[in-house]
Amino acid sequence: MNRKEQIRNAYKLTGGHAGFYDGMMTYSTIPGKAVCRIVWNMDGEKNLRYIEKALSGVPEDFAGRLLEVPVGTGVLTMPVYRELKEVDITCLDYSPDMIAVARQRAVTAGIDNIAFVQGDVGALPFEDESFDIVLSMNGFHAFPDKEAAYRETYRVLKKGGTFCGCFYVQKGNARTDWFIRHLYQPKGFFTAPYETKESLQKRLSAMYEAAEVTAVEGMACFRCTK
Ligand SMILES: C[S@@+](CC[C@H](N)C(=O)[O-])C[C@H]1O[C@@H](n2cnc3c(N)ncnc32)[C@H](O)[C@@H]1O
Repeated sequence: MNRKEQIRNAYKLTGGHAGFYDGMMTYSTIPGKAVCRIVWNMDGEKNLRYIEKALSGVPEDFAGRLLEVPVGTGVLTMPVYRELKEVDITCLDYSPDMIAVARQRAVTAGIDNIAFVQGDVGALPFEDESFDIVLSMNGFHAFPDKEAAYRETYRVLKKGGTFCGCFYVQKGNARTDWFIRHLYQPKGFFTAPYETKESLQKRLSAMYEAAEVTAVEGMACFRCTK
């Protein structure tokens, strides 16, 4: 199964009963599609495009150690991990409830090369330079201490390793910015300050040997080499 199919099939791992969050992430339920279109100005094609870009730093034939932070419910990544048999996967999240859902999803998908850790991205419980890939999807706009998160994800990555993923950036879409400021932030889903695509490119280029940032509406996708 190729990567596009893996992502497209993500909704199937919800067993056809995606909750609101999973339905939104996988563009698979009526309320989820409405949020994607109204808040993010994304249809199914754009949604698929940003997820594919975010995951493009994880080769389909990858073998090595991968850290995902934050894993959330694992709805976007478990379909991908199902095909990565040669990878030693570690998934970290602050929320035990999110981890419980992701763990159950891994069991259902028959993934056994995976470990789940409850923890804080700002103080990762891992040795320096211990992962070949650090994947971070939709996390940095939620993390309260972003500087610590940038520092820690860099610290645990091996030299030559890949840091990749995606998160919200401001000024990509004015309507998205309005919803973030007036709804997501007051509810505590997102935490300021936010990057722009340009500020993120500048930051990552200064930290990493190579860094590429692209954007789909208000979602930036990044891929860096340490
Ligand atoms: C929007 S979800 C993204 C989850 C998943 N990567 C996805 O794309 O569906 C954000 C996640 O960040 C986690 N989180 C927030 N602050 C964190 C922290 N300091 N350390 C680790 N995880 C954190 C939350 O528990 C939540 O699961």
